[in-house]
Amino acid sequence: MNPKRHLITAALPYANGPVHIGHLAGCYLPADIYVRYLRAKGEDVLFICGSDEHGVPITIKAKKEGITPQQVVDKYHKMMGDAFDEFGVSFDIYSRTSKPVHHKTASDFFRNLYDKGVFTEEVTEQYYDEKAKTFLADRYITGTCPKCGNENAYGDQCEKCGSTLSPTELINPRSTLSGEKPVLRSTKNWFLPLDKMQPGIEAYIESHKDWKTNVYGQCKSWLTQGLQPRAMTRDLDWGVKVPVDGAEGKVLYVWFDAPIGYISATKDYFEQKDDHTSSLAKATADKSAQWELWWKNKDTRLIHFIGKDNIVFHCIIFPAMLMAHGDFIVADNVPANEFLNLEGDKISTSRNWAVWLHEYLVTFKDKQDVLRYVLCSNAPEAKDNDFTWKDFQAKNNNELVAILGNFVNRTLVLTHKYYEGKVPQADEYTKGDILLLEEIGKFPARIAASLDAFRFREALAELMNLARAGNKYLAENEPWKLAATDEKRVRTVMNISLQITANLALLMEPFLPFTAKKLSDMLNLGGFKWTHAGRSDLLHAGHKINPPALLFDKIEDPAIEEQILKLHQSKIMNEIQNQVMSPAKDETSFEEFSKMDIRVGTILEAERVPKTDKLLKLKIDTGLDQRTVVSGIAGFYKPEDIIGQRVSILVNLAPRKIKGIESQGMILMAENANGELAFVLPSKEISNGGMIK
Ligand code: MF3
Ligand code: ZN
Repeated sequence: MNPKRHLITAALPYANGPVHIGHLAGCYLPADIYVRYLRAKGEDVLFICGSDEHGVPITIKAKKEGITPQQVVDKYHKMMGDAFDEFGVSFDIYSRTSKPVHHKTASDFFRNLYDKGVFTEEVTEQYYDEKAKTFLADRYITGTCPKCGNENAYGDQCEKCGSTLSPTELINPRSTLSGEKPVLRSTKNWFLPLDKMQPGIEAYIESHKDWKTNVYGQCKSWLTQGLQPRAMTRDLDWGVKVPVDGAEGKVLYVWFDAPIGYISATKDYFEQKDDHTSSLAKATADKSAQWELWWKNKDTRLIHFIGKDNIVFHCIIFPAMLMAHGDFIVADNVPANEFLNLEGDKISTSRNWAVWLHEYLVTFKDKQDVLRYVLCSNAPEAKDNDFTWKDFQAKNNNELVAILGNFVNRTLVLTHKYYEGKVPQADEYTKGDILLLEEIGKFPARIAASLDAFRFREALAELMNLARAGNKYLAENEPWKLAATDEKRVRTVMNISLQITANLALLMEPFLPFTAKKLSDMLNLGGFKWTHAGRSDLLHAGHKINPPALLFDKIEDPAIEEQILKLHQSKIMNEIQNQVMSPAKDETSFEEFSKMDIRVGTILEAERVPKTDKLLKLKIDTGLDQRTVVSGIAGFYKPEDIIGQRVSILVNLAPRKIKGIESQGMILMAENANGELAFVLPSKEISNGGMIK
């Protein structure tokens, strides 16, 4: 397609926590780079985002903090908007789904489909909390996972084994609101019959084989499994009210309302813009015509930037909604990234395992571009990736400082030293110069090709190659050595180096906007844009440049160690907070208990049981006898370390064959929340055979 305008959206983040590096790397940074690139080329672009303020994550956060959902979203909407702003994420609007314009847009959209008879009505059984007098969202129900036995699985997912669950699969379900056992109650909801809509969706996906393989592949797998009808309304009280009779106490499914947020944010943008234009213009401007041009005109190219957990919603459900409505365009591309991990562990807001943007800036003031650089060069484009502080430091010191910063600084310092800051006139070009200038001319197209294909890492690597070429040129020509002997040659070398510097300033803008501004100001680069890049006459002879300042500086070890320590502390805090207690067992009697014969003993011998990871074969002196016990402690103790270890042993347990070995008893172990084991011991010396009762 040859679009007249580009409508770029970035997933509306849930307003239930501050922005972290995973958000930035996964979605907002690539979107911003792309948008800045389009703008630099002079394209007509609108960059849309806002807070997703509905959904269960918000209500859970409110409960946890003891405030209302509205207070939660007010707090985080502001924080998130500020963080995006500070990192140069250049949305044209950062709206929010609690705004009236959104409630109306989403509500009208639902009503439109409802009136067309798109939805099917279905009565289903849902868990209801009789004490809290409310239906329970999946996340509000916990119970035992039927697959792995984890006693704290959620109604939609077990975080221990990763299985997707439905609440009725949980064994012993409990409401997290009241702790009570929920009961099933029937309720009516409106479903989007995705099964019937499959052919249309399939045709849509098939016409986009050009999408990233991770995106196209995930869509195909959904289609192969066969789409299922999905409820578009929920029995909840936080969200957009369902605008039909008989829907009291129900709101739109958050994944129905949130993507419509892109449309309402666009309306919001034009409404706010109108408020700033003169009343005459306001009177003549046809408001709806403005936003409709972006959403209903076939010459608009719509692109959704998202993270991989959002693929089905943006590639299947939202397009299905838009197609059913009929008035709107659908996305031309959905470049989704995989996930960024942090120091080898999944980033998590609730576990405080994250680098928060606002905290980053406290330590690394004015270093937004360093983080942008590291996150882009390590972006999880094709697979999950890991952010480590050591890598962050290395990329800053060895790439930004040593390559880009070094080249620019040497060029500008020498220009001031030799020519008082005036661009020298080039003399004759050598063959090598001509080749280099040709090479420089190719960079813009090469970087553009990578950006057009959403390969941001590759694009950034190319930019760095330009700086490398500059460094190589300086190193080969050594103008500082020629200064006394070959004044003409020095002028040429410095002129070319300055042209490279100017090219860098233009081409780096989408990636490193703060540095680009700094460098452009130093060069007095004026009105040049991306489209001028590649030229070797950006700076004319005699053009005055300003005194240089360093673009980047070295990050020393203590700053990095401080960050690693901070993460370490949050890991420890988590372990303390997440000590989930197993519920108390059923009552037993003293008689039952006194049937157990538990003694103090000593381990005499220990060896691994072949072909097992967990088992040790132990020989134990029980005071009564010496006997063999097979024990599942090999994950925590090495055989050679526990010879002589005092233990508590249940001696009258019926013998059992384990891996062909007869085990005559059981060692008592204490277990913590992480499943780590430790021996249970009397607090002072009791000889073998002493009874535990
Ligand atoms: N809030 C969702 C998330 O953070 C994303 C919503 S994107 C939208 O995963 F399309 F629904 F807006
Ligand atoms: Zn499980």
